[in-house]
Amino acid sequence: MSERIHVGVAWPYANGRLHLGHVAGAYLPADVFARFNRLIGNEVLMVSGSDVHGAPITIRAERENTTPDAIASKYHAHFVGCWQRLGISWDLYTSTGTANHAEVTQDIFLTLLKNGYLYKDLVLQAYCPSCQRFLPDRYVAGVCPSCGSRNARGDECEACGKPLDPVDLGDPHCVVCGGSPRFEKSEHFFFKLSAFQDRLASWVNGMAHWRQNVIGATRRFLDEGLRDRAITRDIDWGVTVPVPGYEGKRIYVWFEAVIGYLSATREWARCNRDDSLWERYWKQEARIYNFIGKDNIFFHTLSWPAILMGYGDLNLPYDVPSNEFLSIQGQKLSTSRNWAVWVDDYLERYEPDPLRYYLSAAMPETQDSDFSWDKFVHRNNDELVATYGNLVHRVLTFTHRYFDGLVPDPGDLDAQAQQLIAEAEQTLGDVRSALERCSFKEGIRHSMALAQKANRYLDEQAPWKSVKHSKDSAGRTLYTVMGVLSVLSTVFSPYLPFSSEALHQSLGFKGTLQDRGWKMVIPSAGQALGEASPLFTKLDESVIEEETARLGK
Ligand code: MF3
Ligand code: ZN
Repeated sequence: MSERIHVGVAWPYANGRLHLGHVAGAYLPADVFARFNRLIGNEVLMVSGSDVHGAPITIRAERENTTPDAIASKYHAHFVGCWQRLGISWDLYTSTGTANHAEVTQDIFLTLLKNGYLYKDLVLQAYCPSCQRFLPDRYVAGVCPSCGSRNARGDECEACGKPLDPVDLGDPHCVVCGGSPRFEKSEHFFFKLSAFQDRLASWVNGMAHWRQNVIGATRRFLDEGLRDRAITRDIDWGVTVPVPGYEGKRIYVWFEAVIGYLSATREWARCNRDDSLWERYWKQEARIYNFIGKDNIFFHTLSWPAILMGYGDLNLPYDVPSNEFLSIQGQKLSTSRNWAVWVDDYLERYEPDPLRYYLSAAMPETQDSDFSWDKFVHRNNDELVATYGNLVHRVLTFTHRYFDGLVPDPGDLDAQAQQLIAEAEQTLGDVRSALERCSFKEGIRHSMALAQKANRYLDEQAPWKSVKHSKDSAGRTLYTVMGVLSVLSTVFSPYLPFSSEALHQSLGFKGTLQDRGWKMVIPSAGQALGEASPLFTKLDESVIEEETARLGK
């Protein structure tokens, strides 16, 4: 039975280039999951967009002497180009800068107000006398009250992940000028998060399928007790507050960005000329998945669900698969030190699938993981080229040479052939089960293990020898391996969409893999194979040194 799956992915701040940390953290797992669900016949909607508000954007604009809008537009376009080349298959990739998003946000704001979940209160707002202005939370830094880290930001401590308020910080200073801010009273709207403590706790208790790290972090926030939070700010960049007297203030970015999951669905519905389509995902039976990095857990498992509860009658997230962090050659990824691999740089020099392969096989799923050029080159050469690509190439070229490029008639399959076909069937089931559970590493491991088995079978059967005395036997071997190749193109396709589609075509199938779906289809005897072009390219060892030299420069 077809199910409805909503895949919402963390909205990246449009203030800098896309790097591998983003890809491994959220976008790749989300894309693998969405592609897989489409392939098994589910109704999938994958949405996100650029987060164009917030201090990360305004800080960058100030540093570059330009407007927040210019920064956001520039990086939004950059993201769109990267997604397309990397094969991230959005149904809609929009931004939080649209009129639609502002409307949906304001509707939620006013409904929460009407439902009694918003109230006004005075807050102490950091004001920098030398910069002569109120400071957004991120413009204030100081000592974290929770872990003692000296460089905590006013919105959150990066070291321990605790969400903060600038007044919580010890020894606060202005990140622009380094001066000491004073705290002045300012009126703001608060969201009564505390009112949802019990409902959230019992909801979280029912989420036994969440990853341990997500449950653990969420329970810690709950155990500390949820506090009401100011959701407006003294800034002029952001969604306006739909209440008189608040013209000079804006809605806080973390209140508004998560609403993007809903507003993007509405935008998508409108693009499809049916305004009510969004209800299929938010009001009818559907499972909502939010793929995020671990620094976003609080906002997705507590804050956003509370907003949804307060608004009423909308689906809550079903799962929040949150990844840990990706380090680069043993060091924490740092954009300011250029200790990062940028997606556009990568794509200028290499194919998307090898990166998707590496980051899937070494995904920071349950613990931090590492990217290194050395491991990248070796995984590409040993696994993609030598194991998988070579298997494909041997079978296809051999069939072209000895069987006129037509799938041979296998006659009766012998025990070994039957065994391998059974293993391929098994793999189809194993990968499916792994992907249904969002266990991406497990799924790709099963897939590559099948390629290894097929290689061993091919070596044992050695059709290049048997063809000399028994063409039938060689034909049976090729037929059998082609059955496995067909399964490999299927199980790899969520991970490696480009090479999988190429293999599907090389096997002589008409139509796309997507049309065929998640099942075993052995090419039929007599089917004309397509071209046997290599699926992957071997990388020279010199790549390691060359690329490593670019890091940190
Ligand atoms: N822009 C945030 C970040 O890059 C993520 C926002 S996720 C959202 O960390 F759902 F809130 F939009
Ligand atoms: Zn200052």
